[in-house]
Amino acid sequence: MQAVVLVGGEGTRLRPLTYGTPKPMVPLFGVPFLERTLSRLREAGVAEVILAAGYLPKAIEDHLGDGSRLGLRITYVVEDEPLGTAGAIKNVAEHIRGPFFVLNGDILTSLDLRAMLALHNRKRGLGVLHLIRVEDPSAFGCVVHDEQGRISRFVEKPPKGQEPCDEVNAGTYLLEPSILDAIPAGQKVSIERDTFPKLLADGAALYAYTTADYWLDVGRPEQYQQAHRDVLDGHLALGRLADATAGSGQFWSAGDAGIPKGVRAPAYIGDGVEIDPSALVGPYAIVGDGTKIGPRARVRDTVLWDHVIIESDSHIEGAILASGVRVGSGAHIATGTVIGHDAIIESSARIPADARITAGEPAQT
Ligand code: GDD
Ligand code: MG
Repeated sequence: MQAVVLVGGEGTRLRPLTYGTPKPMVPLFGVPFLERTLSRLREAGVAEVILAAGYLPKAIEDHLGDGSRLGLRITYVVEDEPLGTAGAIKNVAEHIRGPFFVLNGDILTSLDLRAMLALHNRKRGLGVLHLIRVEDPSAFGCVVHDEQGRISRFVEKPPKGQEPCDEVNAGTYLLEPSILDAIPAGQKVSIERDTFPKLLADGAALYAYTTADYWLDVGRPEQYQQAHRDVLDGHLALGRLADATAGSGQFWSAGDAGIPKGVRAPAYIGDGVEIDPSALVGPYAIVGDGTKIGPRARVRDTVLWDHVIIESDSHIEGAILASGVRVGSGAHIATGTVIGHDAIIESSARIPADARITAGEPAQT
């Protein structure tokens, strides 16, 4: 079985994190997000993955190589210009040999891919789309279907109040190779806005696979933080994937013996982390490898990547700090703030809520 993973987006909504790290390489508990997706594919019996990349592809290839470490064969196809979600699939057509999965590269889900394949084999249509029910469908692709699951409409990001249903495209498809004939070559094409609507208008048989799985698009800061909270709260088991690929970081739950001084569960503490015993780290702190937290500092509900330095008496709540960020003593960072690679926060600085800070540039709020 083959899978195409779409990883060519620029990750604009995760800036400034994605200036230095492409969205699929953004870490989830110390492991690049894409690596977790690939492990899931392999467990579902997928042997070959084609990565449709474009933005910062080298960072992806340097980390994953030929895929053998993950038990997969990875082929990279890099777009010079973004070709859109369908254009990217058309662009890898020469590698496709049979029915194939397509995954948006920013989805965290417990979806059972084998069950989806079984449904496709029963329905024998052009493809199956994984759907999920959400409260605000306007941020997604709305998919209308009948009782047999046959899809009649696909409406990408309808205006609020005009959503035709609450079931949305969850970003995993299982498609027959003949779908490639419906996508024009060498141009930018959106599968959501062009290909699916056109196929449905022509009467193509696409089927819905609606599940109640854990599901999150981590492409926005709030959702990225939510993913960490959900794992710490046990709503999504990273399970074997965590053990297999999370390095030597440690999850701490309330009541665990040996919880380090200064740490409040639930929390995740990476390898080589130094926390002063007088600091207060957690609950809901994710501390990446090699990060240092100084005396009396407070860090809660926050994701710190690797090699971050938090000096004494600083307070951080509800923020995301990328690799190498340094926070001077006594600084306060308010909730919703996202700080990019290697940025320096001056001592005693007051960073307001929802700020975006990039190294060497003035803060944006
Ligand atoms: N190779 C390539 N080329 N990949 C791309 C391109 C491109 O030009 N444009 C986007 N992608 C990748 C992104 O990297 C991401 O993994 C995926 O395609 C989806 O793009 P997003 O930018 O994250 O789209 P979205 O979240 O607004 O909407 C999509 O996902 C929703 C579910 O989260 C749509 O598929 C919606 O219909 C869906 O509901
Ligand atoms: Mg997305």
